[in-house]
Amino acid sequence: MMNATTHVDDHPVVALQNVSKQYEKQPVIHPLSFTVKKGEMFGMLGPSGSGKTTTIKLMIGMEKPDAGSVIALDTTLPDLQVFRRIGYMAQSDALYHELSAYENIEFFASLYGLKDAYKKDRIQYVLQLVDLLPHAKKPVSQYSGGMKRRLSLAIALLHEPELLVLDEPTVGIDPVLRRSIWDTLHELKMNGTTIVVTTHVMDEAEQCERIALLRDGRLIAVGSPQELKKTHQAETLEEVFIQFSGGLQA
Ligand SMILES: Nc1ncnc2c1ncn2[C@@H]1O[C@H](COP(=O)(O)OP(=O)(O)OP(=O)(O)O)[C@@H](O)[C@H]1O
Ligand SMILES: [Mg+2]
Repeated sequence: MMNATTHVDDHPVVALQNVSKQYEKQPVIHPLSFTVKKGEMFGMLGPSGSGKTTTIKLMIGMEKPDAGSVIALDTTLPDLQVFRRIGYMAQSDALYHELSAYENIEFFASLYGLKDAYKKDRIQYVLQLVDLLPHAKKPVSQYSGGMKRRLSLAIALLHEPELLVLDEPTVGIDPVLRRSIWDTLHELKMNGTTIVVTTHVMDEAEQCERIALLRDGRLIAVGSPQELKKTHQAETLEEVFIQFSGGLQA
């Protein structure tokens, strides 16, 4: 078991301050504040529709808050330069189906400004990392759901981002590959990458140093899995989650 606390320091990589968001006059995120520390593996947990995806879009400047501020990598968002230092894997894959995996990756590599030998090396490296080298020439239209997720992850890693934000990265991925993806995430973390990940899978949440629990667009708890279990007198994180999902106020 890797030491999950290696390399974390208290300097915030992301800081949300009283951030709120409405869609069509409906509040989706109620004012919330939290920080993600440098080098941290930070999880976001909450029922479907609780605001996880919206919160991470706010964290990377893809959505603009109605109120409050977001600072990422020492810059107030939105900011295009900072966006280039972030790796983002969306919940639904944004891939070109008529192109091969290689062509997809190449497209994004050019978008990120990668060039020549470095570009070629990075493409090989990320394809190999997600175990897609043997399938690189296939059109994405022939990919399974899990293969598309892996390709999206490869793309998010292309430009060696300092901050990696992954929205349900392992949905549709079998247990063996899921473990290998998490091993990769731990390795990236060991090398100093800060990682924010949303998940519905409890054993993934357990691997995070801290977790934010969301419900109905409200941040109801932030803490380490151990802290959350202790505070809520639960044996497992799943029990904590169910307590929160069942209508208890924090
Ligand atoms: N572009 C949008 N326009 C209108 N409503 C939206 C939009 N995006 C999200 N919402 C609403 O905001 C709320 C939070 O959605 P969000 O996608 O952030 O939840 P989530 O926690 O990521 O859910 P899931 O686990 O299903 O991915 C939901 O009620 C959703 O319907
Ligand atoms: Mg979501």
